[in-house]
Amino acid sequence: MPHISKVGRYAVENPSAIREIMTIVADFEKHPEKYPRKLIYLAGGWPQDPPPPVLRKALKEIVEDEGAFNLSARYGPTKGEPDLIEAIVRYEEAVWKRPVREGEDAIIAGAGSTELTAAFMLACMDPRDELILTCPGYLNYKRQAEVEGLLTFKVKWWPVVKDHEYEPDPGELSDLITDRTRLVIITTPGNPDSMIMSEDTLEGVLDVAEEKGVWVMVDLAYRAFCFSREPSYFSRPRRENEILMCTFSKELRAPGWRLAYAIADAGLVGAVNAVEQARTLCPSTLVQKIIIRAFSSDENLKDLRAFYDEGRKKYAEVAKMTFEALQEAMPKAVPLEPQGGFYVFFDASAYEPNSKAFCRKLLDGVQVALTPGKDFGMEGWIRLSYAPVVQTPELITEAMERIKEFIGS
Ligand SMILES: Cc1ncc(COP(=O)(O)O)c(C=O)c1O
Repeated sequence: MPHISKVGRYAVENPSAIREIMTIVADFEKHPEKYPRKLIYLAGGWPQDPPPPVLRKALKEIVEDEGAFNLSARYGPTKGEPDLIEAIVRYEEAVWKRPVREGEDAIIAGAGSTELTAAFMLACMDPRDELILTCPGYLNYKRQAEVEGLLTFKVKWWPVVKDHEYEPDPGELSDLITDRTRLVIITTPGNPDSMIMSEDTLEGVLDVAEEKGVWVMVDLAYRAFCFSREPSYFSRPRRENEILMCTFSKELRAPGWRLAYAIADAGLVGAVNAVEQARTLCPSTLVQKIIIRAFSSDENLKDLRAFYDEGRKKYAEVAKMTFEALQEAMPKAVPLEPQGGFYVFFDASAYEPNSKAFCRKLLDGVQVALTPGKDFGMEGWIRLSYAPVVQTPELITEAMERIKEFIGS
């Protein structure tokens, strides 16, 4: 066989635990007859509730207008259609109350925040440069850094959960930063922890990083799922070294459409744009056209805000119910109480210290799929996602019954 690269071999030889679980889950779906019970899937981070109706209406209008449909099939500018950029500015201001300042803030759209984050890494990091991630943190960042940096970027962990408490300390972050550190990534509300970083802590992180000339990416994927007051950093003007990473995947319940955007320093966005010219050419024009239409009127933007407010109430209820049911089903587990987002993250090491083994046994034994904490940097912990059952929360009750049965056995 002709050559496979070092990074290609590394990726194959070090599969992520969540991908392994996904392979088993795919088998469940293809061959349900092989398994005693129907799978209850609480592993992935995708919302079960449908996108807001305004998106369907916008798509229908495009499809029914031949001229608009034909235009939606063309290539567009790499950083997004000018009309999309304007629509995003209106959306940020109307829905999130965030001012986007001409000259100081630049916007670039991308084919999902996964892809856009990779482009930011390439635009701000050289071989042997350092990236700091929270521990626990979103599992894909480390992998992206490995792949994008051809195994030359160094990943450092900033522990933010200690003794089962979420206590991020910007002083500890400061100690980790060296003259090779280029980027820190914070997710708030967090994945897998569902914690919301306090305003003081995030400003502290930005202060520390600013003093040392480091970019801070604030991943706001779960901002529409905040269970109490939204923090001021959702709406205040962007700080100089801050990269705001926003995706439509979760808030618009459209993860398969692959559209996201970042608001960042104009010079940095210029570099990301140039990198993206070689990687993606442009984000999907059809999806951009849908968003442009959907964000075109003040009324639609008001409806979107109402959709988010309804959604976060629903998610908060299911989160509370899941948290309480889990404590009942697994009294020796130690969960973090979700403040936002899609997940209950809990220490299950009193039952099984190996999180991959726990998930595997649970899946084989009682057909409930959860995600091992190991990939998020915390062995012994498990992530439960209630997003795939937010419309059918009775499945949480059934999953907990099965978990009790599993533990009992
Ligand atoms: C924290 C976080 N950021 C980014 C993503 C990926 O988002 P996108 O669909 O925009 O690539 C996810 C997906 O689960 C996530 O949890």
